[in-house]
Amino acid sequence: MTRGGTGIAGRHRDNGQVTGTRINPSILAADFVNMQAELARIAAADFVHVDVMDNHFVPNLTFGPQMVERIQATSPVPLDVHLMIDDPDRWAPGYAELGAASVTFHLEAAADPVALARRLRAIGSRAGVAVKPGTPADSLHELLDEFDQILVMTVEPGFGGQSFMPETMPKLRALADAARRRGSAVWLQVDGGISASTIAQAAEAGADTFVAGSAVFGADDPGSAIAALRDQAASVHRH
Ligand code: DX5
Ligand code: ZN
Repeated sequence: MTRGGTGIAGRHRDNGQVTGTRINPSILAADFVNMQAELARIAAADFVHVDVMDNHFVPNLTFGPQMVERIQATSPVPLDVHLMIDDPDRWAPGYAELGAASVTFHLEAAADPVALARRLRAIGSRAGVAVKPGTPADSLHELLDEFDQILVMTVEPGFGGQSFMPETMPKLRALADAARRRGSAVWLQVDGGISASTIAQAAEAGADTFVAGSAVFGADDPGSAIAALRDQAASVHRH
């Protein structure tokens, strides 16, 4: 079982410096009936972002564990699973068990986020927690050590191709400040409307892990799109 993402870049906020920049293309923007070919187009990515939706937590439906297992077996890069589902306490561990490098559930949907994160880690996955644009993240400041990544949604979850919401940036900035103060190694991820015109502001606010659907799969050459996004974010981090 490959969990290539586990432990990448280690404690990336040592010395107060962010050293990792990860680009995770979202296969929500891929052609679902050509998934194997689509995955091959993003071999230059850090992780493949896999959006699981259940028609309850969000008004859209994608796929479940059987499809994710096939993606796991086929993908050239590790899986970053984003669960937009009700009752993640019940369902999330199954995605860790099938070998996903990272499993992120929504804070709004979890009955016991800390217990669930501990379970995901015990199985061997990175544990992530996501917040919708309207959900405060202050409660997470005290809990940074319980998670490997925090996903600040920069659109309302459910659909690709929406516009980036800059009003989510103060929440991201506050998380980044808390992480820096505490010397936390948590990764800060953004998801929704990330493109060449928005990635710099998210990086500037403290994100180090960037999900991009349309900006990568909509490009003629996804590999160059990934490299360009990575360069843009990294150049913000260097300044
Ligand atoms: C939306 C999903 C995103 C989506 C992003 O609910 O969580 O991962 O695929 O798509 P873009 O990058 O097109 O906004
Ligand atoms: Zn997502």
